[in-house]
Amino acid sequence: MAKLTVNDLDVQGKKVFVRVDYNVPMEEKDGKMVINDTTRIKETLPTLRLLSSKGAKIILAAHLGRPKGKRDPSLSLRPVADKLAEMLGQPVAFVADCTGEMVAAAATALKPGELLLLENVRYYNEEEANDLAFAEKLGAVADVYVNDAFGAAHRAHASTEGIARVIAKRGGQRAAGLLMERELKFLGAELENPPRPFVVILGGAKVSDKIKVIDRLLEKADTILIGGAMAYTFKLALGFQIGKSLVEPDKKDVALAALEKAKARKVQFLLPVDNIIGTPVDTGKLNKKGKPVIEIRDPRINNGDNIPADAEGLDIGPETARKYAEVIQGAKSILWNGPMGMFEDDRFAKGTAAVAQAVVDATQKHGAKSIIGGGDSVKALNKAGLGDKVTFMSTGGGASLEFLEGLELPGVAALSDK
Ligand code: 3PG
Ligand code: MG
Repeated sequence: MAKLTVNDLDVQGKKVFVRVDYNVPMEEKDGKMVINDTTRIKETLPTLRLLSSKGAKIILAAHLGRPKGKRDPSLSLRPVADKLAEMLGQPVAFVADCTGEMVAAAATALKPGELLLLENVRYYNEEEANDLAFAEKLGAVADVYVNDAFGAAHRAHASTEGIARVIAKRGGQRAAGLLMERELKFLGAELENPPRPFVVILGGAKVSDKIKVIDRLLEKADTILIGGAMAYTFKLALGFQIGKSLVEPDKKDVALAALEKAKARKVQFLLPVDNIIGTPVDTGKLNKKGKPVIEIRDPRINNGDNIPADAEGLDIGPETARKYAEVIQGAKSILWNGPMGMFEDDRFAKGTAAVAQAVVDATQKHGAKSIIGGGDSVKALNKAGLGDKVTFMSTGGGASLEFLEGLELPGVAALSDK
């Protein structure tokens, strides 16, 4: 059922608790934490501007990293408050806690249209435990609840789920933000009856991460293109040699079942016909975490289905990239989740870059609708400078996967129906 959204709210002078996903990548530079990618902040601006223009008193809450109940200063949201203020062109007050008297005082001091950001909710274990008393403390300052944190909506935590129940008990409204609404539209409604041909591109390391998505999309897609290390589990299941490639031998039957289902439903299911391989060599050194440092040497093209015993497959090969690009160019709808190889290393990034370019061409030249299901594929598109050339990029990683699997997300379920 459709959910209430911020467009439906009358929030003049009301205190609105807005859960956002500001779990942004950060890095320490000269003793300061700096934000590497501001996409998740940028994507909340429309919701915040709308609420502000409607005269809401906005109380923002978010998590950063996984501090597991400790006040880890490197995971403070203070730098995010500064960045948000800069991007919004409006002051954003910061409170160094997420519950208690300081928060109550700051919330009371807000004038209509003003904002404040609370400190990392995961400084408290009660957040992830979805503790009811904690949810009540969070909700104590709010009249209305808005969830714009699609990326965290697969978590049933106090600030994503418990608080919505607290507000509901008081008869308060719980609405989706504009980003949440867009995510549900593109990853949900738009994929119900996609224009055909509908091509799905799936990559990433593990079959086990994607099997439920594969199973569900086999019922919708015309073609599924497989890349990433996941492809080697399929290859192993088909009896080929995969050398030292990443693989899940215990998922061979799952891979075969997917191939069977594809055949039965007449879905074209393509696996790489060539690969870029390399030879992993133990350097004898240990990294910061005490794990052996493995270097990949001698990157080269490997034709055919078998990979030599001493080598590892790390990207799709040029023939596969060409074939996949051709299929993608003919699509009217595209869903892409997961890179084709170890794209963080330039030597193994060409396959992912070729797919990214093909998705962009299909969108820009042939009017295809392209939806990028979050996580590493978004990173890859941004790395290639193509982020604004597709129809939609999800801000969710795990959340978009779970949603594509057809699961109801707790953070969405807790919102008011229209
Ligand atoms: C994410 O970055 O995937 C979301 O913010 C959720 O974070 P989590 O995986 O730590 O719950
Ligand atoms: Mg995650």
